[in-house]
Amino acid sequence: MAGLLRRRSQMPFAATLERERIQARPTWSALRPANPQPTSGVRMPPILEARDLTKVYALGKTTVEALRGVSMSVEPGEFVALMGPSGSGKSTLLQLLGGLDRPTTGSVVFEGRDISRLTDGQATRLRRERTGYIFQAFNLIPLLDVRENIALPFTIAGGPKDRKERVRQVIDLVELTGKERHRPDQLSAGEQQRVAVARALVTRPSILLADEPTGNLDYTNSGELLDALWRSCDQGGQTIVLVTHDARAAAYADRVLVIGDGRIQDEIVLGRREDHSAATLIARLAQVGL
Ligand SMILES: Nc1ncnc2c1ncn2[C@@H]1O[C@H](COP(=O)(O)OP(=O)(O)OP(=O)(O)O)[C@@H](O)[C@H]1O
Ligand SMILES: [Mg+2]
Repeated sequence: MAGLLRRRSQMPFAATLERERIQARPTWSALRPANPQPTSGVRMPPILEARDLTKVYALGKTTVEALRGVSMSVEPGEFVALMGPSGSGKSTLLQLLGGLDRPTTGSVVFEGRDISRLTDGQATRLRRERTGYIFQAFNLIPLLDVRENIALPFTIAGGPKDRKERVRQVIDLVELTGKERHRPDQLSAGEQQRVAVARALVTRPSILLADEPTGNLDYTNSGELLDALWRSCDQGGQTIVLVTHDARAAAYADRVLVIGDGRIQDEIVLGRREDHSAATLIARLAQVGL
């Protein structure tokens, strides 16, 4: 299967579309209400904006300043990577962007609403309905099979009428068709993480936030996961913020923000490319000392 996936990811985009047309099946992009794609020259209002965020953790009698004034924005349909050394504040920032935690000062505006001011109940609903989150550890339920794990957000919150079809579509997107009845211990690490991606996408979130999703994966499995993320963005218009140490992963992004010492230190604009070569990014990262 790995060979097949690699071949598919190397196919020209038009050829991929043609293959999907021939399969005479509705594609992911046709079914998902897409975020508008970034269009050159036309600036969309940001879907997500962080304004002068600080985060101070209290640790006994000491404090840790994890973020020291971060401002950034993400446009609809954009794929943004956050890179930076260990402890620089990447996960802290992602948690604030996803409404999993509140900033000490500053605000996070998501789809025009300041989510740092929501009540706990409102924040929970927002996370459930509008955002998808992927962690480094896959967090799958061992006793549930692939389909049940993916449908979990619907089991918890009740789902739409077409939930079976949605589950089928995301299984197709992450290329796990045929493995629906496997439990997590009957899957490879890469397949498990692709289940986590499918679970995060099944609610059709406005934004997907992923924290080191390839951190536990080998080269091949990382590539397959990144290809799935890329398809959801490029074909389905999914907005993505990806935290990663890995330049190869960040090279899938339109734009890379480099975080150091709780601040955004640099911005590297790569643009939308079919070719995900990391060479340019690695050269730029070397210039900023990463
Ligand atoms: N809950 C917490 N309580 C206290 N300090 C914390 C907490 N979470 C994070 N920190 C501290 O905040 C700083 C930033 O942590 P964060 O997890 O955001 O870094 P990171 O860039 O994601 O690192 P890594 O690449 O290792 O995952 C670190 O110094 C960390 O020790
Ligand atoms: Mg982290």
